[in-house]
This record gives sequence, C-alpha cells and structure tokens, in this order.
Amino acid sequence: MKKVLGIILGVSLLFAAAPAYAGDFGQCAGCHGPSAGGASGPKLVGFDKAYLTGKALEIMAGTRVATTPTGKSLIPVMAGTMKRLNNNNAAEIVAGSGLDKALDFVVAQH
Ligand code: HEC
Repeated sequence: MKKVLGIILGVSLLFAAAPAYAGDFGQCAGCHGPSAGGASGPKLVGFDKAYLTGKALEIMAGTRVATTPTGKSLIPVMAGTMKRLNNNNAAEIVAGSGLDKALDFVVAQH
C-alpha cells in the first residue's frame, strides 16, 4: 500500500512539475504535445509566428473550420484556452500575453 501511495505521489509530482518547462505552452501541450510535435491536436512545429498568429486569431474568432475528425469538438476548448491566455482578447494577439509567449515557445522548438 505504501509503495502504491509513493507511486501515486511520484506521478502527481511529475505532472505538477511538467507545465513549468513549457511556460505558457503548458496549457496547449495536453493536445499538441509537450514540444508541439502533435498529439490529439496537430503538430505546430515548423510554422513561423505569422502563420501561427493567423490561425490563433481564426480559432479565437470562431471562424476556424475543422480539418480533423476531432477538431469539431476540440476547437471550442482550444479557443477558450487561447482567449484565457490572451487576456480575453479575440481580435489581436496581446503582446507579452500568455498566448504570445506560447506561440514564441512553439517557434523556438524548430
Ligand atoms: C482541447 C485540445 C486543444 C488545446 C487545449 C489546444 N489546441 Fe490547438 N488545436 C487542436 C486541434 C484538434 C486542432 C486542429 C483543429 C482542426 O482543424 O481540426 C488545433 C489546431 C491548432 C492550430 C492550427 C494549426 C494549423 O496548421 O492550422 C494552432 C496554431 C493551434 N492549435 C495552437 C494552439 C495553442 C497555441 C494552444 C494553447 C493556447 C492550443 N492550440 C490549445 C486542439 C487543441
């Protein structure tokens, strides 16, 4: 039993510590992978900041049309995460906001 509790504690510490290395991208990593290499959401590595910014604005504005089977249900969740990180602004990327930093993190993964 003690061993089991130890494993549970170890695993929870691992998860609690995980978002720190990814900075604000930690909120996106669950769907896009810890290094933006893709998971349930597509790979984001390899695109420049202008492309990612354009897509983020489409997603926050609600005009993004799903290109993947899971997209239809996940886009609204992603839009909410993006807006929260972007100080609830859907019209532009707020410089220095969590979303801005998350996009910088993705670009730095090249
Ligand atoms: C709930 C899961 C989820 C979360 C959280 C999430 N995304 Fe996504 N994201 C997706 C899915 C799914 C798609 C693809 C949607 C489609 O077209 O079907 C996507 C697409 C994208 C795209 C467009 C890629 C392209 O080539 O068109 C960008 C950029 C993006 N996400 C950035 C982010 C960022 C930055 C965050 C964190 C603020 C984030 N996402 C959080 C699931 C998520």
